[in-house]
Amino acid sequence: MINICKANPIHVQGIAKVCSEGYQSTYGETHSKEYIERIISEFYNTERILDEVTKSSRYWGGYFVAVENDNVVGAGGGGMINETAGEIFVLYLDPNRRNEGIGTNLLEAITKQQKEEFNASEQWVSVHKGNEMGIPFYEARGFIFQQEQNGYGNVEGEEYVSLRYCRSI
Ligand SMILES: CC(C)(COP(=O)(O)OP(=O)(O)OC[C@H]1O[C@@H](n2cnc3c(N)ncnc32)[C@H](O)[C@@H]1OP(=O)(O)O)[C@@H](O)C(=O)NCCC(=O)NCCS
Repeated sequence: MINICKANPIHVQGIAKVCSEGYQSTYGETHSKEYIERIISEFYNTERILDEVTKSSRYWGGYFVAVENDNVVGAGGGGMINETAGEIFVLYLDPNRRNEGIGTNLLEAITKQQKEEFNASEQWVSVHKGNEMGIPFYEARGFIFQQEQNGYGNVEGEEYVSLRYCRSI
């Protein structure tokens, strides 16, 4: 059985693993090795994740995890970006566990938090252009494409593009 709960320090290693492996398997073919390694080492290191599971505010609601037999099989989290809009900042699964509904369950937990605790009425997400796993998922959940923007974390010479999606919640 898979349980969705708010993460705590015992989940830090598992979050780092699913996010790093999920990121690698999602972007391995569209992004350079340097880009992927830079993002993984910046965001999905255990020190940062420990800090992020122990802190929670309106701007970062903490990680939620999907746990099966003490193993983290998915992780995600978000926060508010203005008075009424929430955003999904991160959502990754164990690459072997896609299409079982786990991503939907995590998205629902984050959405419930944003609506009930922070009064969100809309929700945003940024997805890399070309992410053929993330985009169909968000579209299936009612997100609508809004605009393109420069990819987060581009350094000189990189021109990755992000797509901004939004839905009412
Ligand atoms: C995106 C992700 C979190 C979704 O989680 P998941 O558990 O695989 O998704 P679910 O099983 O809950 O739901 C899949 C939904 O997306 C739809 N979907 C998935 N792939 C699709 C495709 N190629 N075409 C059309 N629809 C697709 C399914 O139809 C399903 O909707 P339905 O239940 O209405 O049929 C997960 O696949 C993942 O980690 N992907 C890689 C990382 C990523 O891209 N993260 C997002 C970046 S922020």
